[in-house]
Amino acid sequence: MSGLVDTSIEHDAVDEKVLRERAERAHAFDAYAADIARIRSGRRRATVPSWRNGGELWRDDGNVLTRGADGVPRYVMVAFERPLMEKTAEILCRSGGHVLNVGFGCGLVDEAIAAHSPRSHTIVEAHPQVLAWMRDAGWMSRPGVEIIEDCWEDVDWTPFKHHFDAVYNDVFPFESGEMDLRLWFEVVRLVLKPRTGVCVLYGPDLSEDAVGGLLRKFRGTVNVQWDACRVEVPFVIPEWRRLGTGTHTIRIPWFIIDC
Ligand SMILES: C[S@@+](CC[C@H](N)C(=O)[O-])C[C@H]1O[C@@H](n2cnc3c(N)ncnc32)[C@H](O)[C@@H]1O
Repeated sequence: MSGLVDTSIEHDAVDEKVLRERAERAHAFDAYAADIARIRSGRRRATVPSWRNGGELWRDDGNVLTRGADGVPRYVMVAFERPLMEKTAEILCRSGGHVLNVGFGCGLVDEAIAAHSPRSHTIVEAHPQVLAWMRDAGWMSRPGVEIIEDCWEDVDWTPFKHHFDAVYNDVFPFESGEMDLRLWFEVVRLVLKPRTGVCVLYGPDLSEDAVGGLLRKFRGTVNVQWDACRVEVPFVIPEWRRLGTGTHTIRIPWFIIDC
């Protein structure tokens, strides 16, 4: 009798652990599904990333910096990525169509996109300081340019359904990793023209395996292609740590949604 009781307690303990893990996964999925449902229904997401409230930000020698929670300065964007941003813009503008960029930073990719004169150019930027710099530089009144002053996670994307020929997202800080990426990929599925629209991925050090890993978070089939450019790296930041200083050929992945 007591043996039976003991066994059932063990089973209960195991089942409880399994059930708890399942519940945690389901909860994570529900939160994600709820985000998607909000995007589809045009209702905004409730979360407000801290970035919107304007952490300290300053410019130095063409770079944009901020201060980490530990008080140590960190690069938000570096001027030496200009060739990478120019090549990215060239890929985004090949169709000459409607282009979306998320994250203005130093404005490198947006300056390069504008130089290609796309049919329309939409920029999403959330940080009040960056928005002030954009305003000073006249970006708010440029013909053919629409600025969305918001966190991309909070934008109602439904009016842009299948609107864009090319989309790009290079935001720092990236708030919550995997869920943000899944959410971005849902936005991409919603706003990109199917079968022709191009999504470029940011990452100076992305292997084919790494890109495969990222794209496993995408619902649907994608067709990945690669371009390349050369970048001179004068000093190292976390994203460039493995490559180090010197001249590097950087491969740029981009994809089209097959279905
Ligand atoms: C790495 S920089 C972008 C650099 C840009 N590609 C360039 O060529 O200069 C990142 C930018 O994303 C913005 N950002 C960060 N989180 C954001 C969010 N959730 N929504 C919109 N913009 C965001 C930051 O304020 C910053 O301007």
